[in-house]
Amino acid sequence: MYPFEYAAPETLPEALALLREHGAEAKVLAGGQSLVPLLNYRLARPRLVVDINDVPLVGVRVASGSLRLRTLTRHHELEDSAEIARVCALLPEVARLIGNVRVRSLGTVGGSLAHADPAAELPMAMVALDARLTLASASGRRTVAARDFFTGYLSTALGADELLTEIEVPVTRGMAWAVEEFARRAGDFAVLAVAAGVSLDRRGRVEDARVAFAGVADRPVRAVAAENALRGQEPSAERVARAAEIARDGLDPQSDAFVSRAYRRLLAGVLTRRALSRAVARAISSERAAAPHAEAAGTSAAPPPTELEARSPRDSSRRGLVINGRERDFDVRPGQTLLEVLRDALGIFDVKEGCGEGVCGACTVLLDGRPVSSCLVLAAAARGRAILTVRGLEREGGLHPLQEAFVRHGAVQCGFCTPGMLLTTLAFLEGRPRPSRDDLRAALEGNLCRCTGYAKILDAVEAYARGDDGSG
Ligand SMILES: Cc1cc2nc3c(=O)[nH]c(=O)nc-3n(C[C@H](O)[C@H](O)[C@H](O)COP(=O)(O)OP(=O)(O)OC[C@H]3O[C@@H](n4cnc5c(N)ncnc54)[C@H](O)[C@@H]3O)c2cc1C
Ligand code: FES
Ligand code: FES
Repeated sequence: MYPFEYAAPETLPEALALLREHGAEAKVLAGGQSLVPLLNYRLARPRLVVDINDVPLVGVRVASGSLRLRTLTRHHELEDSAEIARVCALLPEVARLIGNVRVRSLGTVGGSLAHADPAAELPMAMVALDARLTLASASGRRTVAARDFFTGYLSTALGADELLTEIEVPVTRGMAWAVEEFARRAGDFAVLAVAAGVSLDRRGRVEDARVAFAGVADRPVRAVAAENALRGQEPSAERVARAAEIARDGLDPQSDAFVSRAYRRLLAGVLTRRALSRAVARAISSERAAAPHAEAAGTSAAPPPTELEARSPRDSSRRGLVINGRERDFDVRPGQTLLEVLRDALGIFDVKEGCGEGVCGACTVLLDGRPVSSCLVLAAAARGRAILTVRGLEREGGLHPLQEAFVRHGAVQCGFCTPGMLLTTLAFLEGRPRPSRDDLRAALEGNLCRCTGYAKILDAVEAYARGDDGSG
């Protein structure tokens, strides 16, 4: 990594003062899931990294017809919160499609919007939802509509001295949503994604419609002509198909290394038809069930004011690295990843290095109980947090029952990927004692095996979860 200085301000004014002083030479660190790969590859060379994770920018609030997400709301919080699902069903559906479980542990809503990858799901969702973004600087605040925030490839309306602090999502009363996405592998960025929303009036005609795309241009795109073609109409299969054609015909996508322009256009039409059809079906079923207070999955209604969540800040009294329950006082350099410190400085070799870019899962550790890619965590940012490696699973000098199950079922294949699989499994099973095989498959899809396959691994995990052999 290129050398840089590191600052972890604890208040918003401190963070904004640093940005005002250093301007374009500073980079904000939120979840680090886009910034740390750029630093690793020296594609970003800031003089200063401003880690905002100690700034109280967490929490979600539902009030006065809107959902307010503070910038450090993590992807997994969107995915897991029943309250967010109740007021905005689009966000959990979209969050589940982002990267892998480790990306979702750390990645933030604000970071995803500020990074502005044109294939990213959250920018598309915020444009579909007509969200409004609050940008703060040392000289004041301003609000920008999501559709004006994205200005080009990886570009936004953010000034060098500004921080995105909050995202306000209007609650789309009675609107049913659906998302369709095509990606080459589970966990990859979308080749193309589309979010569709439909609400119906009393006569069953389309009252409002939303269609937004990711992966078709240098920023998220709203298909306004397709939306207009649906409003006031009966949502028949023919009208939905016609609206999908209108959306497709309004796009001018590009070819890239993976797919041609023609294929992208084809995908746009097919996925829009599927997303709109699902949204219409959800809207109809929620109308039927609406007697008069009920709400079906996939729809949103006016919420009562609720303060949903405010995470506690990290334990700043502990500035060392707390590894497997033991505090290690270690002088971390700003440019070191947690993986480098664990392996190269502390000799903790049960954490493996594979891809170095958050994809393979070999370097998984649990950070405050959640799986993360240690190759994408700055060691300085992990201070004061609880780090668990596979060595920490040891029980009275012996193996953990899940490890025993892996041995018994022949699931320790190359062995290199096993630590990450064990840790990811244990974090997933916390609070989910009887998952289905499909749930387990989805939980482990970000831990890659290239040697043998997943059958024995899933057998072992299932046996452990069922408590076979007295292990679970
Ligand atoms: C293997 C892998 C797969 C992924 N797959 C997907 C995917 O399928 N879909 C997807 O959408 N994303 C994907 N991502 C990216 C992921 O969603 C990131 O979490 C997200 O893009 C950035 O969020 P972050 O909080 O990690 O931001 P960071 O990486 O910390 O920051 C990203 C950029 O935004 C700036 N920034 C961050 N927060 C603020 C703020 N509050 N104000 C101003 N500037 C800010 C930073 O300076 C930096 O330039 C993937 C990442 C990896 C590693
Ligand atoms: S995910 Fe970190 S080395 Fe592959
Ligand atoms: S278990 Fe490591 S590659 Fe298959």
